[in-house]
Amino acid sequence: MKKIGVLTSGGDAPGMNAAVRAVTRGAIYNGMEVYGIARGYEGLIYGEIRPLSISSVGDIIHRGGTMLKTDRSPDFMTPAGFQRALNMLESFGLEAVVTIGGDGTMRGALELTKAGVTTVGLPGTIDNDLAYTDFTIGFDTAVNTVLSAISNIRDTSSSHGRSTVIEVMGRDCGDIALYAGLCGGADVILIPEEEVDINAVCRKVMEGKNRGKTSNIIVVAEGVDADSQELAKDVTERTGLETRAVVLGYIQRGGSPTAKDRMLASRMGYRAVELLMPGGGGRAVGVRGEEIIDMDLAEALAMKRRYDRSIIELADVLSR
Ligand code: F6P
Repeated sequence: MKKIGVLTSGGDAPGMNAAVRAVTRGAIYNGMEVYGIARGYEGLIYGEIRPLSISSVGDIIHRGGTMLKTDRSPDFMTPAGFQRALNMLESFGLEAVVTIGGDGTMRGALELTKAGVTTVGLPGTIDNDLAYTDFTIGFDTAVNTVLSAISNIRDTSSSHGRSTVIEVMGRDCGDIALYAGLCGGADVILIPEEEVDINAVCRKVMEGKNRGKTSNIIVVAEGVDADSQELAKDVTERTGLETRAVVLGYIQRGGSPTAKDRMLASRMGYRAVELLMPGGGGRAVGVRGEEIIDMDLAEALAMKRRYDRSIIELADVLSR
């Protein structure tokens, strides 16, 4: 393997830069040429491809976002767009591609693999919604960003004696809510994997109120089938405790990656290079426990996500 491309696609995630750096420097160290494909699959279609050197990935390990830029590419899903992407790979002489992104990016990598392109996928998304890996690059940073927001909100909500519904990202996955909820001392955590029981939420708030608690933190994942403003209104009406809602939004996607995300990105990026050296592709790189793993892309994407209900139960016990 001599000439490879690297791209980041879908929602950006802190640590993507560290992964691009690891792929680039790891590959150059092992005698390969590396090309950066801008704006994910969209840039591949339009030939936005340029050589990367050791110095072009300098000073990025600590930066959020992605130096390669990113996009969501509906065109890549069309036969014409996909064919253009294949043609571009050929005309730039790229023998393999490393893709960094979430579920959609991994599915794109699988399509490339099926079309005969040597492809390795790295999981880069704040959502932590890929079943085959314990953690995705960017998740830990997002959780820490949410935690810092919860701490700020706690200051004001306890000063005013208010409850706050805090909506966090995660698409259809409740992991950001679960981790940030437990670590932030949330009274209630609502995730899309479970039905919302407004009576149970209000019961918990009332129990607190009856023992003199004047503020609560209710963490809600964005994929939950309930509007957070409406939820706050309901809690106010049913408990008499003034409740506000805040949607944290895109602040969760930015920021300098944590040590954990930089570790994952660096180790996973280098694993991608190790796989490509003998010409191996069709693999998804992940982490299980402390170990970096890789597995067949199709099998990885066929795995069913599970969530850890015990985190909700623990948060409930510890916030009583
Ligand atoms: O996948 C990352 C993510 O931030 C999700 O948590 C969220 O649902 C989505 O992307 C938002 O996407 P967009 O950037 O297109 O608004």
